[in-house]
Amino acid sequence: MKTTVNTFKKAKENGEKLTMLTAYDYSTAKLMEEAGVESILVGDSLGMVCLGYEDTLSVTMEDMIHHTKAVARGAKETLVIADMPFMSYQTSVYDAVVNAGRLVKEGHANAVKLEGGIEVCEQIRAIVNASIPVCAHLGLTPQSINAFGGFSVQGKQEAAAKKLLEEAKAIQEAGAFAVVLECIPEKLATFITENIQIPTIGIGAGAGCDGQVLVYQDMLGLYSDFVPKFVKQFRTLGEEMKGGFRDYIKEVKEGTFPAKEHTFKIDESVIEKLY
Ligand code: KIV
Repeated sequence: MKTTVNTFKKAKENGEKLTMLTAYDYSTAKLMEEAGVESILVGDSLGMVCLGYEDTLSVTMEDMIHHTKAVARGAKETLVIADMPFMSYQTSVYDAVVNAGRLVKEGHANAVKLEGGIEVCEQIRAIVNASIPVCAHLGLTPQSINAFGGFSVQGKQEAAAKKLLEEAKAIQEAGAFAVVLECIPEKLATFITENIQIPTIGIGAGAGCDGQVLVYQDMLGLYSDFVPKFVKQFRTLGEEMKGGFRDYIKEVKEGTFPAKEHTFKIDESVIEKLY
């Protein structure tokens, strides 16, 4: 049965943990669905882990639609959430609704995610009114990297912690069905989780959240440019892949690949007629 926003609601009610992973292509999304993840986020982390940008700011609507389409084809039974890229919703409520609509209509996403708190509540309300579920994102919001002056833990001081709690309540009130809490202290994330009704999905926010999300290249050891403290590498596939690439190069060079079993036969008489 397809996972939906109702899966999220029920999980919170029943105290069951939710899992989310990022994906950007058909094959990976299919593997994740087969493994049983409840939701797939087509994150704008795409810009860094797939496209090689230094941050997420250059990602476009076209990039997001292109990759969301591929993920949706690979994970038909899983809630697919598409990130709204930088400047696709901050500019106006109208832009927010139009662009969220494109991610659903052209990208086949089931929901969208956007970053920010009180300043984007109007956008959240309008998108939800257009029947598109919205996941919010608080704490270290990568699209604000220039305003933050770098990637660092958020909400450590009293005022900032209070603000995050207020923002979580505000985005819930605006109609968000879930909220990603990124890079905030564990105790603060737990307190927020216990004081709102919608599920919190943590990344660098400790085990007290209702669920967890990780960028898949991080958790499989496929992206080495920057490995944040909160990442656990469940596999080291980067090394595995490099090993495979090296073996391939070696076998081609020495002439052991392709072997007989990788080739196609032809009747000798056909070849003779070529002379
Ligand atoms: O873009 C992304 O992958 C994200 C997750 C890190 C939550 O926003």
